[in-house]
Order: sequence, then C-alpha cells, then structure tokens
Amino acid sequence: MKTTTAQVIADGQKYVMNTYGRLPIVIDKGEGCYVWDLDGNKYLDLVAGIAVNSLGHGHPAVVQAIKEQSEQLLHCSNLYWIENQVNLAKLLVEKSGLGKAFFCNSGAEANEAAIKLARKWGKGEKYHFVVMQKSFHGRTLGSLAATAQEKYQKPFIPLPEGFTAVPLGDLEALEAAIRPETCAVMLEPIQGESGINVPSVEYMQGVRALCDKYGILMILDEVQAGLGRTGKPFAFQNFGIVPDIISLAKAIANGVPMGAIVAKDEVADCFQPGDHASTFGGTPIATAAGLAACNILLDDAFLANVQETGEYFRAELRAIGERHPGRIKEVRGLGLMIGCELTGSSKEAAAELLKRGVLVNSIGEHVLRFVPPLTITKAEIDSFMPILEDVLTK
Ligand SMILES: Cc1ncc(COP(=O)(O)O)c(C=O)c1O
Repeated sequence: MKTTTAQVIADGQKYVMNTYGRLPIVIDKGEGCYVWDLDGNKYLDLVAGIAVNSLGHGHPAVVQAIKEQSEQLLHCSNLYWIENQVNLAKLLVEKSGLGKAFFCNSGAEANEAAIKLARKWGKGEKYHFVVMQKSFHGRTLGSLAATAQEKYQKPFIPLPEGFTAVPLGDLEALEAAIRPETCAVMLEPIQGESGINVPSVEYMQGVRALCDKYGILMILDEVQAGLGRTGKPFAFQNFGIVPDIISLAKAIANGVPMGAIVAKDEVADCFQPGDHASTFGGTPIATAAGLAACNILLDDAFLANVQETGEYFRAELRAIGERHPGRIKEVRGLGLMIGCELTGSSKEAAAELLKRGVLVNSIGEHVLRFVPPLTITKAEIDSFMPILEDVLTK
C-alpha cells in the first residue's frame, strides 16, 4: 500500500529532529518549475529549494552527468587529483576573475572555510571580522558567529570570538569598527534570509575602498545571490567591485550538496596542506553535477534571459501593487532574487498560495521571497500573477 502524507508526517514528527517549521505536504517529484506532492497535487515552485534548483528540477544535462559519473566513480579521496573538480575550479576562476577554489559541502561550510582562510592570511595578528547586522552566513559555530542575529545566536553562546556587527549601508559605522586586528569585512551582496536587502553600488564600492585603505580582505557570501541568480555570474559583478574571497553553495550543483570558496591567488595560497579539508569536498559525483550546472548557469545568453525574466517578474509585481494601492509596500531585488514586502502578513499569503498550488517562501512577517528556477518562463510567471493578485486582494 502506498505511504500516505499523514503517515510520513507522523513518522517525521516521531523520528526526525524538530529543526524546521515544515509545511504539511510531502514533495515527491519535480520537473522544470513544477513539483508534485505525494497525493499527486502539482505546484509551481517559486522556492526552488531556496535558490538551489536554479536550472529547475531534473535538468537533463545535470541528470546525465550524475548518471554517467555514478557509473564511473562516485567518490575518491582528495589525496588524489579529481578531474571534474579541477575543471569546475577553472570555470569558477575564469568567470570570477579570482585565483583558486576550495570545495566543501554547504554554505555554512564554505563560510567556515572563508573565515579560516582570512585568519590564516592574518597570520595570528589579524583575526577580527566586521559583519553586518541582520546577516545570515549559516548555523555552524563559526558561520553563526558571523550571523549577527540574536534569535539564532542566543541559545548557543559562547560562540567563537572576534566578530563585530554594524548596520548594512553605514560606511562610518563600518570604518569605526575596523581595528588593528581586523582581517576582513564579511557580508552578503544581497541579504537573503533577512528580507532581500540590496545594498547600493556606492556602499559596496565604499566597503571595497575601506578594505583597501586598511589593507584588509573583503569577503562576499554569494551562497544565495551567486551563480546567475542576479543575472550576472556572481552578484559582486553588479557593483563594479572585486572581492578577495567569495563563498558559494546552493545552486552550484543544482541540488547535489556542494559548497565552495574562490579567492584571489595571494589569499588562496595561504592555505597549505593540512590547514583545511573535507572528505566529501569536490567529490567526483558532486563536481560532475556542478560542472554540468555551472556550464549553463554562467553562460552569457542564459544570464541575459535571467535579467530579462527578473525584470518582468518585478514589473508584474509592481503592477499588482499599482492596481491595489496599500497592499504591496515594496518590490526589490536583482535578477530572479526578489523580495515583495507586503503591508499584511506574508505567512498568511504564502499559506494561501500553497493551497492554490504555488510554493512561495515567507521571510519574517511581511516579505514574500521569490527565488524560482532561473529557467522560469514569462508564461509561467503570467500563470502565477493572477493567483497572487487574488490572494492579496481577498
Ligand atoms: C547567504 C547565505 N549564507 C549561508 C547560508 C548557509 O548555507 P547552508 O544552509 O548550505 O549551510 C545560507 C542559507 O540560506 C545563505 O543564504
């Protein structure tokens, strides 16, 4: 007999730790921009694993790469060279203009690697980080120390020392927080988890200038905003700056777990054998998927389409706002990383959208976050907008 949704949820509540506020459906399969639950209901997926399935579900190039690589070699140790890993590093380096990559398994791990690399660069004299209030860098102890949000940090203190948080957008506060022991400023090019907050070009260029003035590193957490999400290969390319280290994860292998950092050569070369490692980092299967995904995600024509579709998505949201004054406070974002701040409850709106066959993520009380597959079509966007309009006006 087929397992029911109720059974999966009951067993999940009994056997799986309660770390997620889960919605009451079991996602069973996916294709393109759509997923189906265990009961056969179809949903338009505007969450995409939270910016993970950027090529949509079951992309043939990624599926083929996983199939072929799984038959050839799933895993081998980083004691040996791995061809796919080298090729993916080359692609990321060439598209970013940085120097060398290191591979791990998640966004938090990528940020751990970035923090350790900056401290190694600082030679024990420079170890302090300036981070941003409302940031999100992950939930391991190091990445949590950089995540300046009391709600996440409080139950887990003491955390690693050496992190000072300042408001995003305030260059004076940033400069005042830089100390002789500071090794880096670390921030997201767009704050994802705290509401799709996009800093200005002037601010990002100001951060770069302050890092240069004090001879410290600029680390950009591109875990959510990187790899085509904003319509550029990397989010920093929207701001006319080049950071010293970037961290990546989420979309990098379109759903196969992987994280990475890419750094300028003079910084990357501070890591020597034994300084940092990961058994599964850059494994043949993950980098096969990563190479297949990134070859598409970082392609110019693909990115031009992301920019166009993102503009269309935002324009359609703004049009709903104009037709119904007082419902939508702001539409913000770059490419297909979009926040729609409502005057009412985004949780209620997301719950209603779920009932109507659309997956949308609510962050905080008022923001609907849209991070759909980058392959979403205008027709798919058109199918969603009347549903949203109806939900927002009822
Ligand atoms: C900007 C950013 N950094 C880091 C992370 C943590 O990534 P992971 O959940 O893969 O550890 C996230 C996850 O949402 C993120 O959005």
